[in-house]
Amino acid sequence: MRIDRQGVAAGFSRAAVEYDRHAVVQAEIAERLAAKLEAPLKEGARIVDLGCGTGALALRLKALNPGAMVVGMDLAHGMAKIARWKSATSDVHILVGDYAQWALIDSFDLVVSSCALQWAADWAGTLGAWIDRVKPGGRLGLGLLVSGCFPEFQQAAARVLGPDFWGLRLPSLRELDQCLTSSVWEWKDLEVVELRQEFDNPMEALRSFQRIGASFYDQPEYRPLPPACLRRLLASYPVRSGGGAYLTYRILIGVGRKACV
Ligand SMILES: C[S@@+](CC[C@H](N)C(=O)[O-])C[C@H]1O[C@@H](n2cnc3c(N)ncnc32)[C@H](O)[C@@H]1O
Repeated sequence: MRIDRQGVAAGFSRAAVEYDRHAVVQAEIAERLAAKLEAPLKEGARIVDLGCGTGALALRLKALNPGAMVVGMDLAHGMAKIARWKSATSDVHILVGDYAQWALIDSFDLVVSSCALQWAADWAGTLGAWIDRVKPGGRLGLGLLVSGCFPEFQQAAARVLGPDFWGLRLPSLRELDQCLTSSVWEWKDLEVVELRQEFDNPMEALRSFQRIGASFYDQPEYRPLPPACLRRLLASYPVRSGGGAYLTYRILIGVGRKACV
């Protein structure tokens, strides 16, 4: 599916007010990423969080590095509004912008992004551009959804809708490996983790995407599933003995340091 940025912004803006209440896994990923970044940066260091959402990670990084200049950037006005409200007293600068076409001319000591790159039309090109913005000796911190994410949903969708089912194309570990190790990086604590969220039933698992704004309703190629298809999809979704349903996130989390060349 071609990604329409206005559609992405509209979906996340709509969900922004309730995002923090529902984005439990995203909060856990940001926390794990922040834990890997613990060593404070020098006074005056520059940090940017791309696709910052409601600003949790940017705020956490500012708290860890009070002397740093921290910028958060997000495409969705609604998300940026909440992030600005949360950061009103903390001197974190929140910008509305596209992380694939940013107008910031500077380079940064730390570029981070958590659970956001999957919305790039060209994730490899976008990641390459982010890497270029890291100063020599600086760091890149990533939390990325990778292929194999949401196996319960993917399997049910493949069974019912066949191979033509549209959706985000998540990078494979091999593709990421080429992208990340071909540049001059020293990776620390790079890991792939699986985090599982439990819901009362499969419908609630599917609704969780919409609740955090990760929906396709605003995409030009989106066609709603006919009710019979949706029923078969829900019937094919694996259910636990008590009727509950899991949604398993597969995420690469890590921090790399760019060589001082
Ligand atoms: C799942 S949320 C993650 C937000 C936050 N990083 C977190 O971990 O909670 C994905 C975010 O990426 C933003 N996003 C998607 N495409 C973007 C783009 N091209 N430029 C900037 N932000 C983008 C969305 O607006 C949304 O806020």
